[in-house]
Amino acid sequence: MKGIFISFEGIDGCGKSTQINLLAKYFAKQKKSFVKTEEPGGTEGANEIRKILLRENNFKWSVETEALLFMAARNDHVEKVIKPAIEDNKVVICDRFMDSTIVYQGMRSPQAKKLSLLLFDQMGINPDITFLIDMDPEIALDRALNRETDEDRFENYGIKFQRQLRKNFLDIAKKHSERIKIIDGNQSLQHVATQIMESIETLIK
Ligand SMILES: Nc1ncnc2c1ncn2[C@@H]1O[C@H](COP(=O)(O)OP(=O)(O)O)[C@@H](O)[C@H]1O
Ligand SMILES: [Mg+2]
Repeated sequence: MKGIFISFEGIDGCGKSTQINLLAKYFAKQKKSFVKTEEPGGTEGANEIRKILLRENNFKWSVETEALLFMAARNDHVEKVIKPAIEDNKVVICDRFMDSTIVYQGMRSPQAKKLSLLLFDQMGINPDITFLIDMDPEIALDRALNRETDEDRFENYGIKFQRQLRKNFLDIAKKHSERIKIIDGNQSLQHVATQIMESIETLIK
């Protein structure tokens, strides 16, 4: 079994972290080496960028500049963590990746999307499989707001914004149906997990 790059996408509260933890347990049980990581972040340098990006007072950057900072963080993460792990035949499980930039920044600016895609194209990496956990934004937002976190900039935009995000994620999934698997997040934890594991087993075969 060679290295596999798996990313998870979806609006806040849809269950990404929960499913990533279950998947990590699944690989641990199989004695398959894996790296669990997240964006924005995943390296010391990228985490510094993440801190600034998710802060309330972030220097009033334009969406385009914000997107480029996300891409800088991603480049550090890809160079230092993702590529080395894949080359070492490990499984990489990443909480959010490029699709989140396309959705969160791209939704606000076509130029931000264009700039990000240009840079991404040069990074020479793409997930082998992406799980989009799709669900009712009202339920997801309730779940997200019930968690304790100070990184609530995006979540604070509210339900209308979450609905737009959901739609944009679904549009990307339709466009890249060979890579992105839409999973219904309204199901029980175990149900969602089973579907994810079945897809990964199919991919490995
Ligand atoms: N399928 C599910 N059914 C019910 N509750 C869930 C489900 N998946 C996740 N949760 C709960 O919803 C909240 C948000 O889940 P989380 O995994 O943190 O979402 P995300 O990482 O996508 O923001 C958590 O409190 C989690 O326990
Ligand atoms: Mg999470």
